[in-house]
Amino acid sequence: MGVLSSSSRLARRTQVISLFAVGALALSACGGSSLEQSGDGASGDEVKIGLLVPTSGVYAPLGADMSNGFKLYLDQHGGKLGGHKVKVVNADEGEGPQTGVPAAQKLVTQDKSTVVVGVVNSATALGLRDFFNESKVPLLVANAGANDITGSRKSEYVWRTSFANGKVSGALGSTVAKEAKGGVYLMAADYAAGHEMVAGFRKTFEAAGGKVIGEKYTPFGKTQDFQPYLSAIRSSGARAVFSFYAGAEAVSFVKQYKQFGLAGKTPLYGPGFLTEGGVLAAQGDAAVGVKTSLHYSAELDTPRNKEYVAAYKQAFGKAPTVYSVQAYDAAAVLDKALAKGTSSEELTKALAGVGAIDSPRGSWTFDADHDAEQKYYLREVTSGGGTIANAILNDLS
Ligand code: BEZ
Repeated sequence: MGVLSSSSRLARRTQVISLFAVGALALSACGGSSLEQSGDGASGDEVKIGLLVPTSGVYAPLGADMSNGFKLYLDQHGGKLGGHKVKVVNADEGEGPQTGVPAAQKLVTQDKSTVVVGVVNSATALGLRDFFNESKVPLLVANAGANDITGSRKSEYVWRTSFANGKVSGALGSTVAKEAKGGVYLMAADYAAGHEMVAGFRKTFEAAGGKVIGEKYTPFGKTQDFQPYLSAIRSSGARAVFSFYAGAEAVSFVKQYKQFGLAGKTPLYGPGFLTEGGVLAAQGDAAVGVKTSLHYSAELDTPRNKEYVAAYKQAFGKAPTVYSVQAYDAAAVLDKALAKGTSSEELTKALAGVGAIDSPRGSWTFDADHDAEQKYYLREVTSGGGTIANAILNDLS
């Protein structure tokens, strides 16, 4: 499947979903709930926050980590943000825009959330951009990396505490170009994030002299058997592989990579979602040696992160992940911004002035495009003493 054809199909699908979302907003306005009213979610001093993460589908474990991160921050701050009591309204993003867009609409038009936090899937984020822009309610994206929502389709109302797909994958390009002993094969889930991750990697990899030997996209959320693709990698003669998978797909891919005999012979690289959290625990030793780029590892050796890891383990009985940190930081952002006002309009204006966020990942700020300006790390999966972890090798930026 060509990159161009699947990208343009995706763009068309996203456009249709966006139009549907804006249409639904207009209908709800005709029904008596005006656009401006939709963001006045406060009752008394209470601020209503919509939390939109997947509780179903391949990315459900990522959503659970995000809910935990957001809850931890609230629990550590007496259930208040910016001095105001908070009511969290939950909605299931599901596996993509077909479920995520209507769930977000409900949080805004029916539940009257002041702000919506979350969104894992890039295609969902792209489908929501116009809805939030038109409704004038802020959306704080705490995972989805779709480049355009903080790029060519930037909105006053859309902010992101996570990463842009092109940046997290681009951070790995020069390392792989240096380390690979020949052509590199590219593989990813066939949807917005997969294509953008590959494009971001390819740009910096080729600029550093790397050579792409093959490229394949696998049906998103449906691929369980990777053997035919692994076979194509072997016949290509690739000397290394770059891949983007997360959640359940990352578990299957990495385990089958080892079963197929590629692990240890053809080094595997990718954005850190490939070996993060519960995914790594499920992969076990099959993941040892996989190298990834990410803006977080629970292994980060700083006092701020150690304190966070201890608190998270105490609350949830396991180590935190990048997903939990991104949502924890979204709560930290709201803590600062809500101190300046509790309406959607006041909150949106305040987001520009929140300054540095003292995060477990290290201090970061919003850049001019509303994206997180942050450091990326090169990580390698190591195993020893009965534990498996993403050890940090060095900074990438
Ligand atoms: C995305 O769709 O943007 C995404 C999903 C899971 C992990 C990383 C990115």
